[in-house]
Amino acid sequence: MKRRTLVKAGLTLPVGASILGCAPDKNLDSMSAEYEEGMYLAENYAPVMEEQTLTELQVTGTIPEELVGRFLRNGPNPSEHVDVAKHHWFTGKGMVHGVRLEDGHADWYRNRWVQGDSPNTNVIGHAERTFAIVESGGAPTELSYELDTIGAATWGGYTAHPKLDPDTGEMHAITYDWASLLDHVKYLVIDSAANVRKSVDIPMQGMSMIHDMSLTQNYVVIYDLPVTISFKALAMGYGFPFRWDNEHEPRVGLMPRNGTPEEIIWSSIEPCYAYHPMNAYEDEAGNVVIDICRYDNMFLQDINGPFGDSLPRLDRWTINPTLAKLSEEVIDERNQEFPRCHPDLNSKPYQFGYALRAEGKSFPSILKHDLKTGESTSFEFGAGRHGAEPIFVPRDGAEAEDDGFLMTFVYDEKSAASELLIADARDLTRPALASIHVPRVPYGFHGNWLPD
Ligand SMILES: [Fe+2]
Repeated sequence: MKRRTLVKAGLTLPVGASILGCAPDKNLDSMSAEYEEGMYLAENYAPVMEEQTLTELQVTGTIPEELVGRFLRNGPNPSEHVDVAKHHWFTGKGMVHGVRLEDGHADWYRNRWVQGDSPNTNVIGHAERTFAIVESGGAPTELSYELDTIGAATWGGYTAHPKLDPDTGEMHAITYDWASLLDHVKYLVIDSAANVRKSVDIPMQGMSMIHDMSLTQNYVVIYDLPVTISFKALAMGYGFPFRWDNEHEPRVGLMPRNGTPEEIIWSSIEPCYAYHPMNAYEDEAGNVVIDICRYDNMFLQDINGPFGDSLPRLDRWTINPTLAKLSEEVIDERNQEFPRCHPDLNSKPYQFGYALRAEGKSFPSILKHDLKTGESTSFEFGAGRHGAEPIFVPRDGAEAEDDGFLMTFVYDEKSAASELLIADARDLTRPALASIHVPRVPYGFHGNWLPD
């Protein structure tokens, strides 16, 4: 079984390597039934080994003519030998997959490895440039329009999840700070011309894994949760050394946007982990409301990826800044990840959020949450078909918040190929508006629609 997985992934096991012997921390018996060693290299997690440029793409349905630009998605795509026992899904060279659309036509599909430091987690447009980014504190990698690597950006200190302020066009980011790695992070503001406008050192209680952040009208939200760097894992040669840490006090911080680290309001929270907030905003009473995909724990037993210990549900955390008190409620018990909302409503009150449903090891649908009524609907990909992060793209001149498109890559087990699917976000019961057929796009992380 394990060997078959390796062959599928196009990878080789070193002679004499003991798969289980490399991970003495693990107690496989107590892990999720869904977890199998090597799963993050098998099936549609397996990397693709060829860069392609295709211009004659088969299209089912009708591509909306107003979509002129590129749909881009980044993810890990290791190109070299991988030690299966120590391999972590979050590591390895990045590969960006892109589809360009114009006037109802699919102009091209391209996939390109990200060269250099190889950020593998997200791909964004800023200041009319394209950047591949990762949670490393390193520099983003700038890509050409055709996705070839240009080189490292001149500004360093980066994250996979900057937050764009829709009012100013500035990006806000919480990044690791390698100079004082173990007890500081940095808060950066990148202006609309892609220059660092502001940099604030924030003292921390050790080095927790901070994957994302949130922005509200008045605050920067810092998630300090109990997954921390493990020196034991580092010493044992694991490329991804973060582990669950019972000793780390979980807390969420609100730093006034123009304030100092001394002014951070920290609120305690029950132990949990979260990668991705759907959105955050301040309500009429001045509370900070955060909708977020929450896991019970992370990297406790599954040290190869995020899905073996627990799967995330959608929660709402409400923080009263005056009392420094955080309360938690469940929005939707169903497992889901990769939450998104309307890009112009980031940091503001909103009604609709979208997420990818996770069911065991499959990703069968997009969930659309009406956060005002509590109702939800879903777009089902169909048997043997698995989606990815759903990107909401507002329609030109839209007046309703959900008037727009949902775009995502879908992997079809039967054809072992993928599609860029475009759905009508107003009505998820409608069939897809269009599917653009492309080669297999492995499961990966984040992307965006970058209009021309
Ligand atoms: Fe992420």
